[in-house]
Amino acid sequence: MEKFVVHGGRKLNGEVTLSGSKNAVLPIMAASLMAQGTTVLHSVPDLADVDTLGAVLCELGLSVSRLEKTADTTGHSSSLELKLIDETSFQAPYDLVRRMRASICVLGPLLARRGRASVSLPGGCNLGHRPIELHLKGLRALGADIQIQHGYVYAHATQLQGAHIFLGGPFGSTVTGTCNIMSAATLAKGTTILESAACEPEVVDLGNYLNAMGAQIRGLGTPRISIEGVDQLHGTQYHVIPDRIEAATLLIAAAIAGDQVILKQVPTEYLTAVLETLREIGVSIELEKSFPGHASTSRTESVFHDIRIQSGSRLTATDIIALPYPGFPTDAQAQLTALLSLCEGISIVTDKVFPDRFMHISELARLGAQVRREGNHAIISGVRQFSGASVMASDLRASAALVLAGLAADGTTSIRRIYHLDRGYDHLDEKLRALGASIERVPDTTDTSQSTPFLRGPSWSRQKAKGTFPIQEESP
Ligand code: EPZ
Repeated sequence: MEKFVVHGGRKLNGEVTLSGSKNAVLPIMAASLMAQGTTVLHSVPDLADVDTLGAVLCELGLSVSRLEKTADTTGHSSSLELKLIDETSFQAPYDLVRRMRASICVLGPLLARRGRASVSLPGGCNLGHRPIELHLKGLRALGADIQIQHGYVYAHATQLQGAHIFLGGPFGSTVTGTCNIMSAATLAKGTTILESAACEPEVVDLGNYLNAMGAQIRGLGTPRISIEGVDQLHGTQYHVIPDRIEAATLLIAAAIAGDQVILKQVPTEYLTAVLETLREIGVSIELEKSFPGHASTSRTESVFHDIRIQSGSRLTATDIIALPYPGFPTDAQAQLTALLSLCEGISIVTDKVFPDRFMHISELARLGAQVRREGNHAIISGVRQFSGASVMASDLRASAALVLAGLAADGTTSIRRIYHLDRGYDHLDEKLRALGASIERVPDTTDTSQSTPFLRGPSWSRQKAKGTFPIQEESP
């Protein structure tokens, strides 16, 4: 096990570049199961979740390997080659799926391409109850026979048929549910209309990737998506969008501990709610140079910017509600709660996507935050400063919130079980260190719990490797 040791009080200065999006690359990798031939993905972040899904895809007959870095690859991002080798398997192995909920994204592609799929029901997590009934409703509407037995989803369909499907749920739409159904519908006979589809940029990125493979999808980025089924999808080359949640996390880091930080080539159109909230608090946000960005929808080219962030001398409280896109992202709610805990006044944070997503509160309180939970609200009384302490990470974004709080704390903060963070952040500690933070990754000899539940691939040899995705179990 490893932990971070953060010495607070250092000011952050300098430039930082984003990695590719975790929540875009995972469904895109899963959809590669439907390609006849080879796909090469660029700007793939170096994450435990990518390693885990790569192992699942290898079990399902793909050869997955990281390629040599090219001149334009930044940081640890690299290119991933996914080549179809064998299509006889249709079972996603429990031992791998239990490690990562997003493995459920292989369900739709497997069913559409191979006519059968058995995928372990995703485990619970610290965000609360996370059902998949909307995924199954959509696949049944496309004509699949779905059975739940022994903790597995067994799906079967000789030929999927287009359908008109409503994907709205009690908490809005479903991101990976939209990914699953949209992917499956690309190989269905006829037209599929998804109503109340998720509009997140990561869903749009998957749709753009599927269209690059020969799919015919329209309405990406809107709640109504139409898909004309085609007979086959081919391999392609594709650049994954930058990670907007990493951007939000780094923006909040700059607000909580920054002098002057510049985020390079940020997809600003995906961050409107976050930028608006930071400005309300009193953070100075300036959009500098602009660049033609990733095609965010089939309609328009998006524009990326360099963003200069300067923290204000006096930050004031505000209220936020985490909502489906384009609302404030639930995946940045914990990080913002850390910042609001240092803003003068009373702030109320509400999460309408994951009403139980407040595991970070008790650990922030150990650092001196004054936060009270009431249902799906966190009531925050701003304090002048945190004081360093030993805290425990519980999930991906809660871990990030604790790192940010440690940057601003007086004294030393140690954050344990940082394997949660390694799932979804590409060398966050290195990026913060490059900005001037004092943050070290050290062995946690006091933590005697079992080996981490997540896989970590070996240090990648960047040769054009063939064959299976080499995975080693993390040593305890
Ligand atoms: C995706 O999870 C993201 N993960 C999450 O990011 C993100 O928080 C979430 O979308 C919301 O934006 C990936 O993309 C890999 P949902 P997903 O289905 O698809 C309920 C991170 O930190 N629901 O959109 O699993 C559900 O319980 C992760 O990067 C149903 O009721 O989320 C939740 O309350 C965490 N029935 C809400 O909808 C269903 O069948 C949104 O869930 C499905 C979902």
